[in-house]
Amino acid sequence: MPAMLLDLDPAAVDAAARRVMARCDELAEVSSAARRIERVYLSREHAAANRLAAGWMREAGLEAAQDAAGNLVGRTVVGPRALAADPDAPALLLGSHLDTVPDAGRYDGIVGVLVAIEVARLLRPRLESLPFALEVAGFWDEEGTRFGKALLGSSAVGGVWDPAWWDLTDANGVGLRQAFGDFGLDPDRVSEAARRPGSLVGYLEAHIEQGPVLDDAGLPLAVVSSIAGARRFEIAVHGEARHAGGTPYEARHDALLGASEAVVAVERLCRAERHVIGTVGRLDTPAGAMNVVPGEARLTLDLRGELDSARDLTWSAITATLDEIAGRRGLRWDARQVHSAAAVTCDPLLADVLRAGIATAPDAGPGEPPTLFSPAGHDGMALGGITDVGMLFLRNPDGISHHPAEAVSHQDVARGIAALAAAVAHLADEHARRP
Ligand code: GLV
Ligand code: MN
Ligand code: MN
Repeated sequence: MPAMLLDLDPAAVDAAARRVMARCDELAEVSSAARRIERVYLSREHAAANRLAAGWMREAGLEAAQDAAGNLVGRTVVGPRALAADPDAPALLLGSHLDTVPDAGRYDGIVGVLVAIEVARLLRPRLESLPFALEVAGFWDEEGTRFGKALLGSSAVGGVWDPAWWDLTDANGVGLRQAFGDFGLDPDRVSEAARRPGSLVGYLEAHIEQGPVLDDAGLPLAVVSSIAGARRFEIAVHGEARHAGGTPYEARHDALLGASEAVVAVERLCRAERHVIGTVGRLDTPAGAMNVVPGEARLTLDLRGELDSARDLTWSAITATLDEIAGRRGLRWDARQVHSAAAVTCDPLLADVLRAGIATAPDAGPGEPPTLFSPAGHDGMALGGITDVGMLFLRNPDGISHHPAEAVSHQDVARGIAALAAAVAHLADEHARRP
């Protein structure tokens, strides 16, 4: 039984879930495209979404500010009065991300930020009894849509910002450093976003599952065991541009055919490896024309897996296959790694308090809630070096995500809010028990 008895009013939880659903719709309107959702790092939409979410944070009793990397962070100075006087008092961080993939759904990341704000609001009357401060983060660039490298915002908070990232450019050739300046951030101060290890007691994130396991099982919530490690590459295949009519097949060095073989090989090699998932999300001929044999092809590769070692072995197999294809077709290839993040194991204590939290949520299913591995990446991957990470999954109908049809039900959001609030209470109890 938690010391801080949590007796949530079901009507208040229901109202909180309604607000989350309505605000997901409102944020969906903050988009760079007219009839689809796209919100990328350091854009006008980034600034607008931060303004909107900052207002919601303030309404829930949080002090909201943008950090040196553009993340939105809300903090309620809570707990024993001695802690209230200390702006560096350890905090439990809740949150997720506010950026999206192109043509996105309206819940990936967003729902976790809004659920966290509602948890802070519901716990407001009990904040004085918490042994830690409570913070809510709306991270930016979890997806890596603009610069290819994912988790930029949470990497700044995790203190693992790599200066080499300043060389990243977006599709229009705008560099990350310039984009910082254009947004009104000082690149030389990005380290100020880093949290001191010890300043956080943990990070808890609620997120839609982005897969069908919970929906297939007819269950609303799960605890996450670990998050897949990921690497992303931009691969260029170089051949020779020649006349599409006059060049005999024997004389062609068609970069697109080589790249296409590589795309199929990625699927074959990854499917043979139970723990590795590979996706080519883009394949272009930048200087392509209808009547020219492609002289250059570019593809992206997203490679992820439960075990970093298996993922890396698969990358070696892919490079060997690229060598073979290039040798056979008279091509060259090179690759640039734009993102790398190790797999992260969730903290057992945080998993336990989330399990206990789920047990108190209405109609969360019989027995122990399921424990799922996350093949999708999450901000916790960049925070693992400074604090413990725990995650809660919400049922995602049909497992559709990174798609406009992405969904979550109002009832499951209510369950997620109740479970996360109870998990915070259980964690408070664990901390209070410590000498
Ligand atoms: C984020 O959604 C990722 O897994 O790429
Ligand atoms: Mn995503
Ligand atoms: Mn996400």
